[in-house]
Amino acid sequence: MIYPVIWQNNSVVLIDQTLLPNEYKVVEIHRSEDMARAIKTMIVRGAPAIGVAAAYGMYLGAREIQTSDRQEFFARLEQVADLLRATRPTAVNLFWAISQMLQTAQNTPGTVEDIQQALFQTAQAINTEDVQTCQAIGDHGLQVLPKAPEKLTILTHCNAGALATAGYGTALGVVRSAWREGRLSRLFADETRPRLQGAKLTAWEAVQEGIPVTVITDNMAAHCMQQGLIHAVVVGADRIAANGDTANKIGTYSLAIVAKAHNIPFFVAAPLSTIDFKLSDGSQIPIEERHPEEIYQVGDTILTPSGVEFYNPAFDVTPADLITAIITENGAFAPSELAKSSLRQKAGKF
Ligand code: MRU
Repeated sequence: MIYPVIWQNNSVVLIDQTLLPNEYKVVEIHRSEDMARAIKTMIVRGAPAIGVAAAYGMYLGAREIQTSDRQEFFARLEQVADLLRATRPTAVNLFWAISQMLQTAQNTPGTVEDIQQALFQTAQAINTEDVQTCQAIGDHGLQVLPKAPEKLTILTHCNAGALATAGYGTALGVVRSAWREGRLSRLFADETRPRLQGAKLTAWEAVQEGIPVTVITDNMAAHCMQQGLIHAVVVGADRIAANGDTANKIGTYSLAIVAKAHNIPFFVAAPLSTIDFKLSDGSQIPIEERHPEEIYQVGDTILTPSGVEFYNPAFDVTPADLITAIITENGAFAPSELAKSSLRQKAGKF
């Protein structure tokens, strides 16, 4: 199993996802500042993995605070939270995990050391629970995948796999469970311009697990659907509004449109912590814009002439009416069912 974020020898060990698939290297993170940098530079990426990394980042920051005064400790912990919040704006799991850690701090009686210890336990719990959550998502996904043919082809976009979570994955969790149950014949992976998470990371994970995988460029999806090569689409999510509108990697929206045009079910797989119940619809989701270099440069090669402008939004919002079901650890729901109060309560847990 692939674990992109682990606690080992008093520090956090991250798989450096900027180097895969050519090089497998881990980096040790000892300080909250280094964790913030690792999230910003995408050494660790993917919504739930960012959440887990931020939780550990909060603990690393907490243990750097040298005071025995609770109020001073809280004030400085807020600064650590601000540093981590400023890394990436779209994935709500980052903000969710930071808020769980702040709540733990506030709710822990006793000394600063007691609070630091409680923060470590909460970070560990967020990490462990995310793996179980992903396994549950994977298994619930099996219930909603098309019943025929017996062996399916699934198309995914970006990387919503073990690398993007604490382990197992959300969209790739569904793929893993389908593979285990003999329900999958092949995974199709969109390469996912501009950062190529599909070609680099999803393909790498599939190869590690022996899952047959075909990488296509993003603009081939409609053609593959027209040719009858795709039975279902399963993607992850960075933030889901209360009405089911879903922000995910740029290109997800167009994939949902072409899936609808071909009558192919389109599933979003995500933990409840990805649902932002404060936002009534997707228009309120902040969309990260990244450096144009991601578009105009591949390795050392510049692709475009000078004098052109670029626009590089990292995410887009797929309207709820294009989504067949949202697969969570509590089961699969039509987007319109998300507003249920029981799901809201579960989402705020810890
Ligand atoms: O920019 P990234 O690589 O962090 O974007 C990742 C995605 O869009 C994933 O699909 C999403 O975070 C879900 S991960 C389980």
